[in-house]
Amino acid sequence: MSLAGRRIVLGVTGGIAAYKAIDVCRRLVDAGAHVAPVLTEGATHFVGETTFSALASEPVQTSLWHEDSPIPHTRLGQGADLVVVAPATARVLSAYAHGYSDDLLTATLLATRAPVVVCPAMHTEMWEHPAVQDNLELLRSRGVHVVWPTEGRLAGGDVGAGRLAEPADIVAAVAHVLDGADAPPDGRADDLAGVSVLVTAGGTREAIDPVRVITNRSSGKQGYALAAEAAARGARVTLVSTVERAAPAGVEMIEVASAADMQAVVVPRADHADVVVMAAAVADFRPVVVADHKLKKHELAADGPPHIVLEPTHDFLVDLGRAKRPGQVLVGFAAETRDLLDNARAKLERKNLDLIVANDVSAPGVGFEHDTNAVVLLGPGGMRQDVPLTDKRAVARAVLDAVVELRTATSS
Ligand code: CTP
Repeated sequence: MSLAGRRIVLGVTGGIAAYKAIDVCRRLVDAGAHVAPVLTEGATHFVGETTFSALASEPVQTSLWHEDSPIPHTRLGQGADLVVVAPATARVLSAYAHGYSDDLLTATLLATRAPVVVCPAMHTEMWEHPAVQDNLELLRSRGVHVVWPTEGRLAGGDVGAGRLAEPADIVAAVAHVLDGADAPPDGRADDLAGVSVLVTAGGTREAIDPVRVITNRSSGKQGYALAAEAAARGARVTLVSTVERAAPAGVEMIEVASAADMQAVVVPRADHADVVVMAAAVADFRPVVVADHKLKKHELAADGPPHIVLEPTHDFLVDLGRAKRPGQVLVGFAAETRDLLDNARAKLERKNLDLIVANDVSAPGVGFEHDTNAVVLLGPGGMRQDVPLTDKRAVARAVLDAVVELRTATSS
C-alpha cells in the first residue's frame, strides 16, 4: 500500500453516507496518509466538522472564503496527490462533470491535476437516472476513477442500488490508484482510451438447493487483472464477476452467480461493447431442478447413489460470436489439461472468436487460484504468441496488447 506520506484531499458531500467518510478518514490517516478534509455545506448537516478535524491531519475546510488563506482551492488542489470524494452526491457529480464550481470542493476538483476517485452514493431512483449515469460516464471518459456503489439499505429504510461502497474498499481503491501497479507501462498509457471493455471473471455457481452448488476452481484473478489493466489503459470497463471481491479502481462491477445470470447481464451489454473478454469459467451443466429446500441425504440418495440430473447450460459465447459487430473484438478462454492447442483452436473457430487465451491448467503455477499464469494466444491466420509463466497482470497486458493490435488491423 502506497498511502504513507501521500497528501489526500477527502471531499465529503451531503448524503446520509457521510458518516462512513469518518471511517474512510480514520483508515487513510492510520495508513500514514496526510488527509485534508473538505466538507460541503450539505455534509455539515450530516456530520460534525469537529469529528473530522479531530481525526484528520489538518482542520476541516468548508468555504471558499477564508481570510487567512484567500485561495484555499488552489492550495488544496495543487498540493494533493489524490482527491477522493466519499460520498459523492448527484449534485457534486453533475457540477464536476460540467465544470461548475460553486463551493470549495467543486473548485478544488477543477483546480487539481491529481487523480480523482469519486464514490457515488444516493437513492436508487437518483442513481439510475440517465442524467446521473451520463455525468458519471463523462467523468470516467476523462479518467476519473469510480468506486461503484453497492446494493443495500439506504436512507429511510429503503433497499436498493446506490449504497456507498465500504470504507475498506474505498481506501483500497485509493491505494490502488496511487500505486505504481495502476500506471501502465510506457506507450500503453491510453491505447484503450474511450474503448468500452466488458470482462467476465470467476466460476459460475449452479444451485442444487439453497445450500449446495456445482462450481469450478476458477478464482477470477485473471479476469480482475484484465479489468484493472484495461481501466489503467483508459478503457471504460464493466466487470461481470462471480467473485465477492471489490472491483479494481475505475471498474464498474456487476455480481452474478449462475451461467444464466451471467448470460442475462452479458448478452445485452455485449451489444455496446467494443471488446468482450470472456475470462469466466462458465459451467457447462446445471441441475435440471433446483430444490427450494435443503435436500436431506435420504432424499438425494433415496434408492442407491445420490442422483442429480443435469442439463447443458447455454453457450452464450457462441451467440456473441454470431452477433459480433464489425470492429468488435471477442476474446475467449480455453482452460485445458490436454491437447491444448488443438482444443483451443477448435474453440476459436467454432465460437467465431478473434482471440483465444489457452492455458494448460495442469501445469504448475498455471491457471485456477494461482497469482501466476502461462498462456498461448491464438488468433486469426494462424497467429500464435506464447506468454511464459508470469503474474496475471502481465498476462492481462499481453492479451490487451493483442486486442489493441487486432483493433488497429480491423480499422485500417
Ligand atoms: N463459455 C460460455 N458459455 C458456456 C460455456 C463457456 O460463454 N456455457 C465461454 C467461456 O467463458 C470461455 C469459452 O466459452 O471463454 C470456452 O469455455 P470452455 O468451457 O473452455 O469451452 P467449452 O466450449 O465449454 O468446451 P469444453 O467444456 O468441451 O472444453
